[in-house]
Amino acid sequence: MNLMVFGAPGAGKGTQAKFLIEKYGIPQISTGDILRAAIADKTDMGMEAKTFMDEGKLVPDSTIIGIIKDRLIQSDCQKGFILDGYPRTLPQAEALKELMNDMGKGLDKVISLNVPDELIVGRITGRRVCRECGASFHIKFNPSKVEDVCDYCSGKLIIRKDDNAETVKSRLEAYHTQTSPLISFYTDMGVMLELDGTKEVSQVTKDMFKAIG
Ligand code: AP5
Repeated sequence: MNLMVFGAPGAGKGTQAKFLIEKYGIPQISTGDILRAAIADKTDMGMEAKTFMDEGKLVPDSTIIGIIKDRLIQSDCQKGFILDGYPRTLPQAEALKELMNDMGKGLDKVISLNVPDELIVGRITGRRVCRECGASFHIKFNPSKVEDVCDYCSGKLIIRKDDNAETVKSRLEAYHTQTSPLISFYTDMGVMLELDGTKEVSQVTKDMFKAIG
């Protein structure tokens, strides 16, 4: 099963991807997590990406497409994968299509989580993420069982550097101008599942599994 979770920053992509991993036993490929790991390792690519991420701008397509090409050929992706945060531009979507064609694979479903902008700021400013595994929680809407401790791996929960009200504005602008045109791209491909992402986390999960079928 080759899946994609799609939506604005803070729509719940990472949160729902964790439930897909549990159900299907396939890896989540989050370009945001890969970039944050490269920043933590202080690689050249990470340092270049950081300048864009700190301002809430998209990292250049050439960098991101290279990351995905390297990741999808790894052995753990052979049975399937969950793309989270990729693609975010039409050139990235075209590159993915070509790459998957070359690999003899197809995209099964794109799960789009629809959440209006006015809810996004509250979600992002209240988010806490696991320093170890990247799992996402929210101080009010989706709290961890133990404060500041990850439910999945017991790692410490931290606030992401780009999770502030100012950067959220740029990230939303990037989403509306560069990423939202992909909705019609995947609708035309016949793989789009649009879900109401404003419901409680557990209800969105139920709706998602029902829609995947
Ligand atoms: P990335 O890490 O991908 O961030 P993002 O897309 O901005 O998405 P988020 O991780 O912020 O949100 P999410 O949808 O996963 O929400 P979550 O589940 O955490 O990218 C960061 C940066 O890297 C980008 O800005 C860009 O610079 C760069 N980048 C990455 N990929 C790129 C690409 N392909 N091309 C170019 N640049 C790229 O949920 C959010 C919060 O809400 C949490 O607190 C959660 O607990 C809570 N929540 C979740 N669901 C619900 C619910 N149903 N009800 C209430 N609260 C909920």
